[in-house]
Amino acid sequence: MEQHFNFNNELSGKIALVTGGTKGAGKAIAERLLQAGATVIVTARNAPEDENEQLDFIAADLSKPAGTQKVVSEVLSTYGTLDILVNNLGSSVTPAGGFAVLTDDDWESTLQANLFAPVRLDRGFLPQMLAKKSGVIIHIASIQGKLPLYDSTLPYAAAKAGLINYSKSLSNEVTPKGVRVLTVSPGWINTTASKAWLGEIARNANSTVEEAQQSVMDALGGIPFGRPAQPEEVAEFVGFLVSPRANYLTGTNYVIDGGTVPTI
Ligand SMILES: NC(=O)c1ccc[n+]([C@@H]2O[C@H](COP(=O)([O-])OP(=O)(O)OC[C@H]3O[C@@H](n4cnc5c(N)ncnc54)[C@H](OP(=O)(O)O)[C@@H]3O)[C@@H](O)[C@H]2O)c1
Repeated sequence: MEQHFNFNNELSGKIALVTGGTKGAGKAIAERLLQAGATVIVTARNAPEDENEQLDFIAADLSKPAGTQKVVSEVLSTYGTLDILVNNLGSSVTPAGGFAVLTDDDWESTLQANLFAPVRLDRGFLPQMLAKKSGVIIHIASIQGKLPLYDSTLPYAAAKAGLINYSKSLSNEVTPKGVRVLTVSPGWINTTASKAWLGEIARNANSTVEEAQQSVMDALGGIPFGRPAQPEEVAEFVGFLVSPRANYLTGTNYVIDGGTVPTI
């Protein structure tokens, strides 16, 4: 029997929060959830450049406890509840050069943004999710959680490994009480920031952007798909995971990397 699915408005009535939702994958995820009918709140330090009036914005630095506290209290006081939490914020701003060049501050800031921010937000929103016995929490990690690139992103890779492990533990604890917890580990994503980064590599190496892209893919050991993911491709998958169609999925880490990770 042929089945026809209509994904429009499947998140109607749901309140969703996407951290780092003003750029890159987070922006695409926020727009995907909006398309599915959710009320979507995004957070970042700076207001979005190309503002989408349908998205509500809260300014906060989530690498600080005060920032996560501000977001939890503003969301709960304005909307009364949260159904979908997408912990998308993550970044690596530490210098290249391996273990010896990294200071305590480098480690601290990377762990704050990539691990402590989701831990604090989950802790802030879980009580009301548990009280109503429903909710979905997504942690956006990275293939570096299992495939670390030690030269330039050592603390980031360690933080993402911690996030994947924490996400599994949290799922074990709260799934029996009605809250699904999932991890998504993207490979390279073609964001605005990564396009600018490629341009810089090309300029420094006096090469074309295509050659710079190939050199990054070579450093990753190749991407069988032949290109990085588009933010919308990651967003589409997250849109599925938070929907009722993924109702039995919890406690799992999904890699979305065009085949980059070389092992099964
Ligand atoms: N891009 C990739 O190739 C790639 C690969 C694997 C995994 N990932 C993961 O995918 C997720 C999204 O990455 P992306 O590359 O799409 O991000 P991005 O384009 O760099 O955007 C980062 C977002 O987070 C916000 N942000 C940064 N620091 C913040 C802070 N301290 N407090 C609050 N907001 C902050 C930024 O806005 P403001 O600057 O205004 O605060 C922006 O909205 C991350 O978890 C990343 O680790 C990315």
